[in-house]
Amino acid sequence: MDLPSPRCSLWRGLVLVASLLASGICQAAGQIFITQLLGVEGYRSILALENIPENVREYTWYRGTQDSAGNMILSYKLPNSWQPGPMHSGRENVTRTGDLVIKKSMLNDTGNYTVWVDTGNETQTATGWLEIVELESNPGISVNATSLVENMDSVAAYCHTNVTKVTWFVNSVPISSSNRMTISPDGKTLIVHRVSRYDRTLQCVVESFPEIFQRSELIALTVAYGPDSVVLRATPDIFNGVITAKIGSQVEMECVSISLPPSSYRWTHNGSLLNLSEAKMTLLSLAWEQLGRYRCIVENPVAQLTFYRDVRIQLPPESECCLPPELLPVARSGFYISGSLVVFLIVMTVLGSVYLCGVLVYALISYYSTRYLWCSRSRMGHRLGQELKGYHTLQGEDG
Ligand SMILES: *[C@@H]1O[C@H](CO)[C@@H](O)[C@H](O)[C@H]1NC(C)=O
Ligand SMILES: *[C@@H]1O[C@H](CO)[C@@H](O)[C@H](O)[C@H]1NC(C)=O
Ligand SMILES: *[C@@H]1O[C@H](CO)[C@@H](O)[C@H](O)[C@H]1NC(C)=O
Ligand SMILES: *[C@@H]1O[C@H](CO)[C@@H](O)[C@H](O)[C@H]1NC(C)=O
Ligand SMILES: *[C@@H]1O[C@H](CO)[C@@H](O)[C@H](O)[C@H]1NC(C)=O
Ligand SMILES: *[C@@H]1O[C@H](CO)[C@@H](O)[C@H](O)[C@H]1NC(C)=O
Repeated sequence: MDLPSPRCSLWRGLVLVASLLASGICQAAGQIFITQLLGVEGYRSILALENIPENVREYTWYRGTQDSAGNMILSYKLPNSWQPGPMHSGRENVTRTGDLVIKKSMLNDTGNYTVWVDTGNETQTATGWLEIVELESNPGISVNATSLVENMDSVAAYCHTNVTKVTWFVNSVPISSSNRMTISPDGKTLIVHRVSRYDRTLQCVVESFPEIFQRSELIALTVAYGPDSVVLRATPDIFNGVITAKIGSQVEMECVSISLPPSSYRWTHNGSLLNLSEAKMTLLSLAWEQLGRYRCIVENPVAQLTFYRDVRIQLPPESECCLPPELLPVARSGFYISGSLVVFLIVMTVLGSVYLCGVLVYALISYYSTRYLWCSRSRMGHRLGQELKGYHTLQGEDG
């Protein structure tokens, strides 16, 4: 008979061999044995068979050291027949290679287990000891700070465990040492240098038994950041740092920024602080004294970072003279004259004055010269009149 060579695998499934008892390993060829097991409460335990012969027809597992009918847990007849016995708790099964699998192990599953293997012209038995242990409580975690400022603060986290296999998770993703994160040689300390806003949670996970992982609680970090992307928006739009608006029109300005915690806002107008702590400022009806420089100051109170944005409100450069009548504001209070119109009026006034003076001078000259002529003429006329009068008198005396 061609017997299979012994397979000396120690680790199958959830296997942790501390020491080997009676069955041992690498026994004489042909003799089956059970790998000694340490199971963990609540997890699956496997009593693995080694060195199994060919042509097995049936595997039967028993509780204790005796293969008596009263101790039977489960019998598996190849290929497809499973027969539970009095010791079957509902959690056991036998695999096609004869291993006994116990789901959700309990502490009182600890004890001896015996297997009986039948190949038709030969039977073998083996007994093994299963120990179910309690898990230690989950690892503890502590951090030296949870409220941090982005790119400034570092955080150190410590994993409280006696287990040597420790893995650190940042945002639930396993991490290894990098230029931003340092893990101590014993694995128990993690330092995140100059935290970022994306460093949200820290957790350590230990592998207390092969493939059994225990997680610490999740530590949430609060990383203050910003103000970021500070923008000043306005209606009417800002062009080259200037809002162009007419007296009486509505102007809205709003500072937008991203930060944690939310930023505080302040406004100044021509250098003096305004009594406003909102991101938004509305000038319902722009007045003359509201023209000028505005500054929006955005501050993250925790990160102690401040940014500002400036804008100027001014009147349109060419006021209304060149607008078609339908674009002129309907309600107009006051009287407006444009610069060019003023120049035109001044020129017209000067020209008019010069003209009037000329006319006046001419009139005066004309007047005096005319009067002189008239005077000399009237003196002559007077004399003539007297002469004529004398003539008439002479005539009357005649008639
Ligand atoms: C054992 O597992 C097989 C499937 O692998 C299943 O058909 C069978 O019913 C199980 N037996 C018991 C006792 O749970
Ligand atoms: C093991 O303990 C459970 C309760 O914890 C009990 O129901 C079960 O009968 C016990 N099994 C044995 C074999 O003592
Ligand atoms: C288990 O079996 C070993 C020997 O096979 C024996 O010494 C031991 O007392 C047994 N333990 C129990 C609890 O039956
Ligand atoms: C067992 O039976 C097989 C055939 O089923 C045979 O080849 C083998 O030699 C037998 N072994 C022994 C030890 O009798
Ligand atoms: C926390 O530990 C880190 C790394 O050792 C250190 O840089 C940081 O200052 C500590 N923070 C506090 C609040 O002690
Ligand atoms: C580590 O082991 C020691 C002694 O064995 C024990 O006192 C301590 O509580 C253990 N620590 C943890 C976190 O399990």
